[in-house]
Amino acid sequence: MQANHLNPQWQLPSLTDGGKRLARRVTMTAAMALALLAAGCRQDMHNQPKMIPQRGSDMFADQRGARPQVLNTVARGQLHADSYFYTGVVQGANGYREERDLMPFPVTMEVLKRGQERFNIYCTPCHSRVGNGLGEIVQRGYKPAANLHDQVRMAQPVSHYFYVITHGYGAMPDYSSQLTPADRWAVAAYIRALQLSQAATAQDVPAGTQVKALSEEAAEQDLPASYAQPWTLPAATLAQALPSDAKQGTPAMAPAGNPNPKIVIPPSKPAPVAAK
Ligand code: HEC
Repeated sequence: MQANHLNPQWQLPSLTDGGKRLARRVTMTAAMALALLAAGCRQDMHNQPKMIPQRGSDMFADQRGARPQVLNTVARGQLHADSYFYTGVVQGANGYREERDLMPFPVTMEVLKRGQERFNIYCTPCHSRVGNGLGEIVQRGYKPAANLHDQVRMAQPVSHYFYVITHGYGAMPDYSSQLTPADRWAVAAYIRALQLSQAATAQDVPAGTQVKALSEEAAEQDLPASYAQPWTLPAATLAQALPSDAKQGTPAMAPAGNPNPKIVIPPSKPAPVAAK
């Protein structure tokens, strides 16, 4: 017996033609989307050989991704053929390096202005704007910076300043990362201008140029009279730059005793004693 044992209520209603078309379209779209997705997942572009900074590489025997410069080659833009411009020294006849009182390029007003700007930014904290070595940091205890107007400094060739900026000098850090070689030369040239300015007379400027005294300038600009006077280290500074008592050590160290008698330290907290 071919009896339909299914309850007619349970049978799905048969689809109309429109319904069938819709179902086909949905299936097609889904299939296409899947195909596209699968194509997007291909790894070819990602896996192409390339260097990733700070990562290893199977390409080279030493497995290093960061490559050292190839021996005996010069990278583009790194040919420092003008070695005086980059080092400030030349090979002397005796085989030693020699400094020269010579600028590697012409000193224009533009160069001096650049030098003044860089000097005021990087050098004044220690050497002061006039270059006498009594900058704000020195007034607060840093080792006195060189007075660029003393006999020794005046006699130094201009490339010595370049050399000092490049390599530092004694307690002075180097400024090679802050100043490009061209900027270092500009600062060196400006130091010469500063030196000239401090002892200049009316004979040093072209005839007919009006020379004004600093005191006149101060009065005109309503600046205090001290503006025109030689700069000196103020008597009372936050820290003593040069301790009179050797036991107090260098300015960078804490003073041995209570530096200020007005501050009373309670007996329960004895004054710190410097290590012997
Ligand atoms: C953090 C403080 C500091 C700064 C900033 C500084 N200097 Fe100095 N400079 C010193 C000190 C300190 C000395 C003396 C070094 C010593 O005797 O140990 C010195 C010495 C010098 C000397 C003399 C070197 C010699 O042969 O006697 C020159 C020139 C000089 N500095 C130039 C500069 C220039 C140019 C700049 C700016 C680019 C600069 N300094 C920035 C602290 C500084």
